[in-house]
Amino acid sequence: MGSSFGKVFRITTFGESHGGAVGVVVDGCPPRLALDVAEIQADLDRRRPGQSRLTTPRQEEDRAEIVSGLFEGRTLGSPIAMLVRNRDARSSAYEDMKNLYRPSHADYTTEAKYGIRAWAGGGRASARETIGRVAAGAIARKLLREAAGIEIVAFVQQIQEIDAKVDLDTVSADQVDESLARCPDAEASERMVERIDAVRRRGDSVGGVVECVARSVPPGLGEPIFEKLDADLAAAMLSLPAAKGFEVGSGFSGVALTGSEHNDPFVPGEDGRPRTASNRSGGIQGGISNGEPIVLRVAFKPTATVQTQQDTVSKDNEAVKLAASGRHDPCVLPRAVPIVESMVALVLADHWLRQRSVDVLPPLEPQ
Ligand SMILES: Cc1cc2nc3c(=O)[nH]c(=O)nc-3n(C[C@H](O)[C@H](O)[C@H](O)COP(=O)(O)O)c2cc1C
Repeated sequence: MGSSFGKVFRITTFGESHGGAVGVVVDGCPPRLALDVAEIQADLDRRRPGQSRLTTPRQEEDRAEIVSGLFEGRTLGSPIAMLVRNRDARSSAYEDMKNLYRPSHADYTTEAKYGIRAWAGGGRASARETIGRVAAGAIARKLLREAAGIEIVAFVQQIQEIDAKVDLDTVSADQVDESLARCPDAEASERMVERIDAVRRRGDSVGGVVECVARSVPPGLGEPIFEKLDADLAAAMLSLPAAKGFEVGSGFSGVALTGSEHNDPFVPGEDGRPRTASNRSGGIQGGISNGEPIVLRVAFKPTATVQTQQDTVSKDNEAVKLAASGRHDPCVLPRAVPIVESMVALVLADHWLRQRSVDVLPPLEPQ
């Protein structure tokens, strides 16, 4: 249970970190969408480990295979199964941790729940599980781009206290990918790179914030009451490993303002529908998109597995010290960027398809 997401554009991910393969089954993708495995691979390459000195040195090639749902380069409307075989799986690196619980990782809770744990590599709690989400997200992004002109760009907005100034109207994936830290503000990026490098050398880790903007989203997406667009985005983001906080628009900072300061005044738009002069709502009002860019932020904690010595307990409930070995990300943020984009794409694709079943009758005549 718990491995499926979405109602119409629905994904199920499978696989453990050091098992045979990880992957996804996508059901509900419309037929006739042109799709090439290279497009999936491009997104997986942005997620994969070993891309720079700021990520884990694990060299996982992460070659995508599409095993069903395509014919002559187009989707068939049938389930699309995609997988990546696990190749650089060194279980020996986890041998010394198999009988104890890494602080703030999923080791103890997984064992408390299931009474068994694939201890090598973190099993299902490993970020390798997100490969399936990114592969599915690549399809959702393409669908949204081609069918609705929707564009999604995420970037690292903050590492510890270092924050970036970014223009949400113009920021592009190319600008983001020019930076090792995936931060399109050159000055902030440099400081972030230095910070991540410094903690990596000390065998420690840091966290931060990924911000994401989705542009050209039409008004009307989201299903009140329990499947509001912001509620589904929150569920998507907080399902990511190491995600600890979620905000839309002004988020927590909005509490410092009064209503008159915080409101987004409506202004007549050029295309005959209202626009807003500001966007503190982050493009969502009443759980429904209002046609403005959707803006959200996700807080990721510092990576749990660190080489710095820490207190923990063994499976026999004895106090032990752990200075973890293995190859871990000193900061998950640069690799989290394509993962956040993928989850936003999955939520929007699902709601965009769902809205097509709502908007079927002609508009009412003015009274
Ligand atoms: C891109 C990415 C890479 C990650 N890499 C590591 C890692 O190398 N080591 C680690 O301990 N945790 C890593 N994590 C986080 C763990 O998977 C996560 O903290 C763990 O499953 C416990 O879940 P929780 O932090 O959500 O409570 C990574 C997360 C992401 C998003």
